[in-house]
Amino acid sequence: MSMRELGEWTVRDAGFREADVLANGNRMLIGNGYLGYRGTVEEADASDMAATIVSGLYDRYGDKWREPVNAPNALSVRLVAPGDEPLTLRSRLLASHEQALDFRYGVWSRNTSWKVDGVTVTVKSERFASMDSPHEMLLRYTVETDGKIALRMQRGIDCAVRDINGPHLGAFEFAGTGGDLEVTCKTLELGIPLRVRSAAATDFPAAPAEPAPPKKGEACFRAEYLLDCLPGISYSLTVYAEVSAGSDPDAGMFAPRVGPFDGMSGEFRYREALARHKAAWDAVWADGDVEIEGDDAARRALRYSIYHLQIIAPRHSRDLSIPARGLSGQTYKGAIFWDTEMFIAPYFLVTDPEVAKRFIRYRIKTLDGARRKAAEYGYRGAFYAWESQESGDDACSHFNVVDVFTGRPMRTFFRDKQVHISADVAYAIREYVESTGDWSILDEGAFEVLVECARFFMSYAWYSPTRRRYEILDVTGPDEYHERVNNDAFTNRMALLVFDTLLEYADGLEKRGSSLPAETYAKTGFLDELPLLRDMAENLYVPSPGPNGVIEQFDGYYALEDASLAEVRSRLLDPKEYWGGGNGVATNTRVIKQADVVLMLNLFGDEYDGAVKKANLGYYEPRTEHGSSLSACMYSLLSCETGDSAWSYPFFRKTAEIDITGESKQFAGLIYIGGTHPAANGGAWISASRGFCGFAVAGGEIRLAPRLPAGWTKVSFTARVRGVRHKITVTKDGYTVC
Ligand code: BGC
Repeated sequence: MSMRELGEWTVRDAGFREADVLANGNRMLIGNGYLGYRGTVEEADASDMAATIVSGLYDRYGDKWREPVNAPNALSVRLVAPGDEPLTLRSRLLASHEQALDFRYGVWSRNTSWKVDGVTVTVKSERFASMDSPHEMLLRYTVETDGKIALRMQRGIDCAVRDINGPHLGAFEFAGTGGDLEVTCKTLELGIPLRVRSAAATDFPAAPAEPAPPKKGEACFRAEYLLDCLPGISYSLTVYAEVSAGSDPDAGMFAPRVGPFDGMSGEFRYREALARHKAAWDAVWADGDVEIEGDDAARRALRYSIYHLQIIAPRHSRDLSIPARGLSGQTYKGAIFWDTEMFIAPYFLVTDPEVAKRFIRYRIKTLDGARRKAAEYGYRGAFYAWESQESGDDACSHFNVVDVFTGRPMRTFFRDKQVHISADVAYAIREYVESTGDWSILDEGAFEVLVECARFFMSYAWYSPTRRRYEILDVTGPDEYHERVNNDAFTNRMALLVFDTLLEYADGLEKRGSSLPAETYAKTGFLDELPLLRDMAENLYVPSPGPNGVIEQFDGYYALEDASLAEVRSRLLDPKEYWGGGNGVATNTRVIKQADVVLMLNLFGDEYDGAVKKANLGYYEPRTEHGSSLSACMYSLLSCETGDSAWSYPFFRKTAEIDITGESKQFAGLIYIGGTHPAANGGAWISASRGFCGFAVAGGEIRLAPRLPAGWTKVSFTARVRGVRHKITVTKDGYTVC
């Protein structure tokens, strides 16, 4: 049985429980934007889902899904007791185990003991993925005993990694001496080279046996130390690991600053790297922190969420984005969804706008992929991938869910019909320009993205001659349980935003004397389409509130069965059953998966009054399953707007604690979808800052409207707006901005 304890900056788990291996892999993930390393112990292997995920590196095996590559594990260490007895967490000799994450500095640690023939063997270790030098990870591993015992310590690079849809690596080459091992290999699909180095220094005299490249059937390149342990003496190993890939951006620019040891002792090298790592984290927190006073649990949960955002921020690159499960593994194909633009970007936009800019550059870089997708479906312009990888081609399969009853893949329409993704990209561009005042992103290609996204919706919409308006038919909105619907309120409003933004920015650029609009129109042949764009911007239908203030989510939604959430849930025959699709329990009812109209009301809050917001919250919340981690934060935010912070608070906590509790959906049908939840991590920040503090940026000005929940006495955070860094403090009834 394990026991979780939370400190001001720590998550600690004591004891061993099989189910916690996967959960702690996510919960105690470390990373630095370049790579993510799961929170498993050193002796963990493929069955524990040990993983090193390199940002932006994907591979396809056979005709299976493309997914991120899991690199060989450079921090593998095993301890073997006499009689060839491996000391693992599952060993009958295990006496105690504790592992922890310090989320202020991204340092993972453990303290584990085994009782071997009356002798207590204890391993203490600590590791981090350098925030200062993205290719580097360091580990310090110490063995102590209270009696005499001979142990074998094996450390090396474990190439037998677990893949969901692998294997992904081949052409392995092994080189090195016992102290410095190196594995080079190539991805199978594109032949991208990957190099993993693992150098070690010991502060005990035993020399490692010369490593032998793995024999057939073995996958770990290992060096072995024979330790004749004496009571009370510590035997420490320092491992310096370095991972680099042919796909790395700006190769060489981020080369490690210091060699593995450069004549330093293991301990010295570890301390030196740790000090640089911590200084880099201090700089991150200086702008990235939110301090909540009066509510310890909320403060901790929000900081923990921010930690998870920071360890996946692609600072090392110019144009990478963030996958929906961060760098926590291979689920969701390591793909970038709308999660980044709508839920993650808002945090970076004001704490580190350069990171938010990378997300936009990523969409500029993948514009051709979006053009290809539009053309594939017979549309014009840019239809961004629902699940996007390095080229922008859609990684989302037509059969994205497996039916629990038949084991057959189910046809889903996420890829074909979640057209709002192209509007979400445009929305993020607009938010970036409005908040930073940095129009240069438009020159970098974002203006062309706007043109192509507008063009996509222009070709997707149709004109209803009888209703005399443009409509958008056959789409799936954020609520994925209702596929292929007409006039989804969120989608239509977002498409209008694309049209308006393009017209406004073209005008703004021209007024600044920029030739960018003219050049882009000439390049894309859009000039002739401008009159149509103006007409569509004026006559696109956006559903409005009915007499009771509620906005119908899509045409015909009210005609669906109005069964309660409990009733719909009770109809499940299997807990892993998919609620949507052709025949899901929610499909023909009004039960929705996640915030949809409510999300729209948050984004366009100035266009709707308090009564409409209240009416929609009251209507949709009881009908929302919150089957996506993107949902609760949006209900939290809107209820702050309507003045109900008390009602909002549990939604905030649920969002902010999702990766601490690990209580989230782990399956969609039979597909494993576990991992960390960056969108919820970002949603927690949105709900604390925009919700409880009423923080907003309009016309380059900061707006605040304090509505702190019970207990909160003060919230402080940093916001960079239009190039100026502001320190914001919000109290129950006031605020300061300096
Ligand atoms: C949600 C999507 C989201 C995706 C990735 C799905 O369950 O419905 O809105 O983009 O997960 O987080």
